[in-house]
This record gives sequence, C-alpha cells and structure tokens, in this order.
Amino acid sequence: METILITGAGGYIGTYMVEHFLSIGYKVIALDRFFFGNTLDNLSFNKKLKIVKNDIRLLNINHFKGVDSVIDLAAISNDPASELFPSITRDINYKGAVHVAKMAKKAGVKIYVFSSSCSMYGAGNGIVNEKSHLAPISTYAKCKIAAENEIIKLSTKNFCVTSMRNATVYGVSNRRMRFDLLINVMTLHAWKNRKIFVLGQGKQWRPLIHIYDLVNAFRLILEEKEESKINGEIFNVGSNEQNFQVVNIANYFRNFFQDLAIEVTPSDPDTRSYRVNFDKITKTLGFTVSKTIDDGILEIKSALDKGIITDSIQTRTLDYYKYLISADKILSSVKISGRLF
Ligand SMILES: NC(=O)c1ccc[n+]([C@@H]2O[C@H](COP(=O)([O-])OP(=O)(O)OC[C@H]3O[C@@H](n4cnc5c(N)ncnc54)[C@H](O)[C@@H]3O)[C@@H](O)[C@H]2O)c1
Repeated sequence: METILITGAGGYIGTYMVEHFLSIGYKVIALDRFFFGNTLDNLSFNKKLKIVKNDIRLLNINHFKGVDSVIDLAAISNDPASELFPSITRDINYKGAVHVAKMAKKAGVKIYVFSSSCSMYGAGNGIVNEKSHLAPISTYAKCKIAAENEIIKLSTKNFCVTSMRNATVYGVSNRRMRFDLLINVMTLHAWKNRKIFVLGQGKQWRPLIHIYDLVNAFRLILEEKEESKINGEIFNVGSNEQNFQVVNIANYFRNFFQDLAIEVTPSDPDTRSYRVNFDKITKTLGFTVSKTIDDGILEIKSALDKGIITDSIQTRTLDYYKYLISADKILSSVKISGRLF
C-alpha cells in the first residue's frame, strides 16, 4: 500500500484530497499547521490516516520516513492574502515549499508533486501554455514561480518532480469551504442575496476546474507508469472548455437563480486575466474533466440549502487571516507573563 504525505491537508483542496486518496486505498499522512481549525478530526478514526500538526518550515527528513510520494499543497493560498503579509508568504510559499521538496528528496521519497497556479500567467495576452511568458502580479504568483523554478531543478532519475499549475477551483469541500473562489462566492451571493458582483466590467479571463477533477489530476501523476512523461514536467491543470470571462459566468448564473441582480463595477484592483491552454495534460496523460460549472453551482446551492456548508469567516481566506492577526494582537496585549487568566 502506497503512503502519500499531503501538506496543507487541512485546507480546501487538502481535506477533499485526503478523503479521496483514503477511499481508493492509499495510506495518507495529513500534515498541516491547521490554521483553519482541526478540519480532519472526524476522519481520525481511519487507521490508514495519520494526522500531523506541524509547520512545513520545521520539517526534517524524519517526517518523510516510509513516504512514497509527497503532494505539497501548504501555502498562503490566494493573491490578496499574500499581500497582507508578503514576507511570511515568501517564507511559506517559496522557501517552505523548496524546503519540503529538499527534505523529501533527502529522505528518499520517489515522487514529489507541487501545487502551483495558473495565477502566474498574471495579466497575459492571448491564450497561454506552459511555455508562455509569465507575468505575475501578486506576491502569491511570484512565490509560486520562484518555488517552481527551484523545485523542478531538484528532479533526478530517483526523485520524480512534477509541478501542477492549477486553474481556479470550484465545488464543495465541506471541511474547509472557500467562498473566495469565483464560482463558489458567486453561488453564495446569488443564493443568499440574489445579487452578484462583477468587478472591473468582468472582461477578465479565468480558467476553472472542479475540485474532483483537480484531485483526479494529482492521482494521475502518482499512478503514471512512464516516469519520463511527468519527471521534471509542468502541467496546466484544467480544460480548454472551462476558460470563461467573468461577466459571462455572472450572466450564466441566471439559469440557476431567478430575479438575479448583477452589479458591474468599472474597476477591479485585481488586474489578472489569463486564458489557458490545457492540451499538454490531455495529450500526455489522457486527462479529461468530468464536471462542469453547472455541477459546481448546483452542488454548492444544495449544500447551502442543507446547511452542510455555511458562510463562516473561515471560508474567506483573507478575512480569516486578518482575524487571526488581530486576535493575536489582542491576546498579546491582555496576557501577563504569558497567561490570559
Ligand atoms: N483553490 C484554488 O483555486 C487553487 C488554485 C491554484 C493553486 N492552488 C494551490 O493549492 C494549494 C491548496 O489551496 P487551497 O485552496 O486548499 O488553500 P487553503 O488555504 O484552503 O489550504 C492551504 C492549507 O495550508 C496550510 N498551511 C499554510 N501555511 C502552512 C505552513 N507553514 N505549514 C503547514 N501548513 C500550512 C493551511 O493551514 C491550510 O490548511 C495552495 O498551494 C494553493 O496555492 C489553489
């Protein structure tokens, strides 16, 4: 039985991924700082799962003993949160990721998969592929590029390294939902207020992928028999059919919510726009997606109706990190000799 170590396992993608790999027979070591709470606790009965609470920056080779593959998801996970604390983001998303890859290599792990992002295409023109010029805007995107560059160089015959430049993900992940991702947040606002917002006229392009398909792409990497297809390779992860302009997505929501108001604002502080080609992953690995944005919208709507997911502060990455910073300040100012009471 193969053992995978997943960093960032307590997050939106991580919690979903842990459950998926357990369900198909893998042993999983779920490692996370658990900023968003103990999101995996109700899976702890599973004997194939080991939960490790730690920071990726503190790992040593002992953490990788007996591990066959590493999927490295841990990160400050979006562009605005990275601007809240750029130096911490560099520490975690760049130096931390490189540290994980180096430790994994030293420990003799066979496969390392990095969770990168299409965000690094930034404000590009035309349709971009893996060889296109990168035009990062945020600290987040710059750190993904810096980490990817160094990590890919670690690839050898015995250490198979792959970087996955993911499209923006959508869909329900009920242990740590994210309502700061395009489809997810629009569904929430349409469901709650019958109103959605489109910033900057909505002409910007975004590639999208359902969380199930994304996790499946990572599984394809782990199960690829021909190592030469994946070792030292970078893949855009998504599908050509799911590149959308934001305003068109907003209008599409009218199919699911009656009397929907769409408010378009003239400007958007986020100037990213990227339309991405996904031929490489399809041609090399036979990857295709099975879900559409209709599936995503309907499942989120249904999970909101049933109360399976709610609009808590933990679902908004930037707001939650701001909240942690202010809670930390308050506690520090109230404590005397390290004691609250
Ligand atoms: N969700 C998307 O649309 C998307 C798109 C492209 C790439 N990605 C990448 O995929 C990965 C996962 O994203 P997500 O949406 O699940 O984000 P998330 O914020 O839900 O999860 C990130 C997890 O990393 C953990 N973490 C952060 N710093 C850590 C540290 N120093 N040590 C240990 N754990 C730490 C957090 O506690 C959190 O559980 C990230 O690398 C992100 O950049 C996500």
